[in-house]
Amino acid sequence: SVGKSTNILWHKSSVDKIDRQELLQQKGCVIWITGLSGSGKSTLACALSRGLHSRGKLTYILDGDNCRHGLNRDLSFKAEDRIENIRRIGEVAKLFADAGVICIASLISPYRKDRDTCRALLPEGEFVEVFLDVPLQLCESRDPKGLYKLARAGKIKGFTGIDDPYEPPLSCEIVLRQKEDNCASPCEMAETVIAYLDEKGYLQ
Ligand code: PPS
Repeated sequence: SVGKSTNILWHKSSVDKIDRQELLQQKGCVIWITGLSGSGKSTLACALSRGLHSRGKLTYILDGDNCRHGLNRDLSFKAEDRIENIRRIGEVAKLFADAGVICIASLISPYRKDRDTCRALLPEGEFVEVFLDVPLQLCESRDPKGLYKLARAGKIKGFTGIDDPYEPPLSCEIVLRQKEDNCASPCEMAETVIAYLDEKGYLQ
């Protein structure tokens, strides 16, 4: 568990974040996409990665689902495991940002407190929280993996939005609202995020 190591010292590298950022011509940061299952987090993450890549920017996606195939394969969906899932992805995202990469984390991350803990790992301004605000009803009507159906039938217990909580951000850098399926496309939403990064000097 966390905080067990003792007698350990930080070893500083002679090549630092500034050097790496100079090499890459960009600033490392974390774009944290939060929202319900089926809200389109992974699709947005891909569109964002593609858009930045085509501008010559190095990105890396940490997707909740994908990380659960490896790094987080030991974690379930009970609250304490979701907290650990968020913590681990937050720590890995911090390493990527330190490497100078624009790291895109896309996971439900349903608890406000834990997203804020991840935010606190990064220097001011380097954690960009993006709330994909899609009503439960719309996510449920899409149901790309058929999981809402299973949750409604009681075949999955503790499904976010059904019988497990989702706490929307009270204030975050970007809110992308989708009221119906024909709202902004993933590419348009990605462009909104890219414009924000550009304005904040992350693309140099
Ligand atoms: S979390 O809450 O941040 O730890 O979740 P995350 O790692 O993003 O994983 C969410 C994906 O797992 C599938 N799934 C569930 N989601 C919510 N609740 C329960 N009980 C559950 N069981 C499985 C689901 O497909 C989520 O995928 P997305 O991409 O969000 O639709």
